[in-house]
Amino acid sequence: MRLEHVSRPARPFSPEFPASDSCAQRSAALEQLCVEIDAAFAAAEADRRASFGERVRLALQRAIADPGVLRPDQRVSNPQKYCRHLLAADPLNRYAIAALVWEPGQASPVHGHRTWCGYAVIEGTLDETLYRWDAAEHRAVQTRRHPRATGAVSYVDAGRGAIHQLGNPADATARAVSLHIYGVAGEQIATHVNDLLAA
Ligand SMILES: [Fe+2]
Repeated sequence: MRLEHVSRPARPFSPEFPASDSCAQRSAALEQLCVEIDAAFAAAEADRRASFGERVRLALQRAIADPGVLRPDQRVSNPQKYCRHLLAADPLNRYAIAALVWEPGQASPVHGHRTWCGYAVIEGTLDETLYRWDAAEHRAVQTRRHPRATGAVSYVDAGRGAIHQLGNPADATARAVSLHIYGVAGEQIATHVNDLLAA
């Protein structure tokens, strides 16, 4: 079934999470990404979600191969904090897509995820620190750290099995840009994705 992705959530969801000015002006690559995520949902219903994550990864990979996936205004940073631009929201509230723009030294908090999510690095190299959840001490314990260069793609299911922190290293010479998909409605993207954890 072809779903229509019209200009629904053009309003900001929070001061630090501006919606892109019009979801109707998405790039062809972003529109195709929505089509492929819709197809991933349809396929997952057929095969009990076995291939959903892989389909999301492949769709992200194809989307970021197009240099026009983001408009210039969707790559704008915020000097105060890493900047999030809402790009698309599924009319059925199954997922939302955002671009994150990171200046050197900007990083997310340590977090698990309350929903499935996928991301791909479009520009620059992000630094990702991974953690395991220590239930006894009730905190996240660092396990390893690795660079995520342009082209890197990731998918994780909800839960504390995939705790991480993402950021652009302080000694980076340029901003980094990444494309994220979360399994929430657009209106919940700022509030229902990250499970903030003590580390
Ligand atoms: Fe995350």
